[in-house]
This record gives sequence, structure tokens and C-alpha cells, in this order.
Amino acid sequence: MTASVSDDENSIELAGLLSEWLPENDDPARPLMTLSTGTSSGYPDARTVLLSEYDERGFFFHTDSRSRKVADVTGDPRAALTLVWPGRQLVVQGDVARADDAEELWAYRHRSRYLQLLAWLNTPEFAALPQEERLARWAEFDAAHPEGTLDPPPTWAGFVVRPVRLTFWEGSPDTASRRTEFRRTAEGWTRALLPG
Ligand SMILES: Cc1cc2nc3c(=O)[nH]c(=O)nc-3n(C[C@H](O)[C@H](O)[C@H](O)COP(=O)(O)O)c2cc1C
Repeated sequence: MTASVSDDENSIELAGLLSEWLPENDDPARPLMTLSTGTSSGYPDARTVLLSEYDERGFFFHTDSRSRKVADVTGDPRAALTLVWPGRQLVVQGDVARADDAEELWAYRHRSRYLQLLAWLNTPEFAALPQEERLARWAEFDAAHPEGTLDPPPTWAGFVVRPVRLTFWEGSPDTASRRTEFRRTAEGWTRALLPG
């Protein structure tokens, strides 16, 4: 099943598929990913996050350092990402590492105004307030921090998922769906064609 092409050809095909399937990093319409993690209870967990950016280091997401997902990847730095589009799915397994300061700042600056405010106000204390107070405090914080003046809160945290396996699923109304799977090995990327 493994196609007999060289590693270089596999790398080139992989890079081509990623640039075809994923938007440019400065495109404000960010793809959604299901981030799956292992947990200390043994039950897997999953939630939706934005793909902040993608480059040769991997797939970046950003979150609150106090969140469950951060506890999960701190305890077990392996994760899966699932991205879905009409007729397409990409599943990535990989190793998780903290992003560097410059990347975290870049991602915060590229978040919408709403998400920049949210990064400051998304606390357990805020969640527990009555809705009227949540609206009032949000408006107050917004007014006190004009656009362009907000830095990331100390809890802003970025992570990169460095792929060990990527599975591209493509559906077709006229023939069987099929997956193209790339695995990282010591020698480079292998490529296999799998049934959908
Ligand atoms: C469409 C959508 C996009 C989201 N994007 C993010 C994100 O980029 N980062 C994030 O921390 N949470 C994001 N969330 C919220 C998470 O899904 C999740 O509820 C939250 O981060 C807490 O997850 P945890 O308790 O598993 O850590 C998003 C939720 C939705 C519905």
C-alpha cells in the first residue's frame, strides 16, 4: 500500500497538500480544529480550538494556561487534531510543545478584538457572575482598553503540535473515499494510500 516514491517526493507532496488545504496564516478566517488529548482520568478529552498558524514547526493553537487542555498536554505532551471541510478531513497526531514568546505575541496581535478581550476576561470568577454584571464588566473593560493598547494577559499560552502522522481524507460522490497518510520516520516521510 505504501507508494514507492522517495522521501523528497513525499515531503513535497505533503507540503503541497497542506498549502492547498490550509489558509494563509494572515487570513483572518481561521480553521477550526478538534484538539484531542489524553487526561489523568484515562478518559480522552476533546474541544474545538482555532488553528492560529501553521508552518514547518507544526500546527499552533492558543489558549489559557489555566485550562484543562494545558493540564492535559503538560501531563502527556501528545495530541490529535481533526480539521474538517466539506468533502475533506485532515487528522494530525503529534508531539506538543510550548510556543516561543514571539509566536505567542504574533498570535495575540492577530486575534480579533473580541478574542483579545476574551483572553483577559475568560476566568472562572467572570463565568460565575450574573449575566447583567458580565455584560457591564465586559463593556467597562472594553472602554478602558482602546483598540491597539492590549497586550496578552500572563495566562495567554501558545502550543505547537509537531506532526508524526497526517491523514488526508478525501470524499468523492463518484468513487470511494480515500486517505493519503504521511508518517514521520528517522529517514523522512513515508506515504500510504488507505481506504476511506
Ligand atoms: C468555534 C470555537 C472556537 C474556539 N476556539 C478556541 C481557541 O482557539 N482557544 C481556546 O482556548 N478555546 C477555544 N474555544 C473554547 C474551547 O472549545 C473550550 O471550551 C475551552 O478552551 C476550554 O477547554 P478545556 O477545558 O478543555 O481546556 C473555542 C470554542 C469554539 C466553539
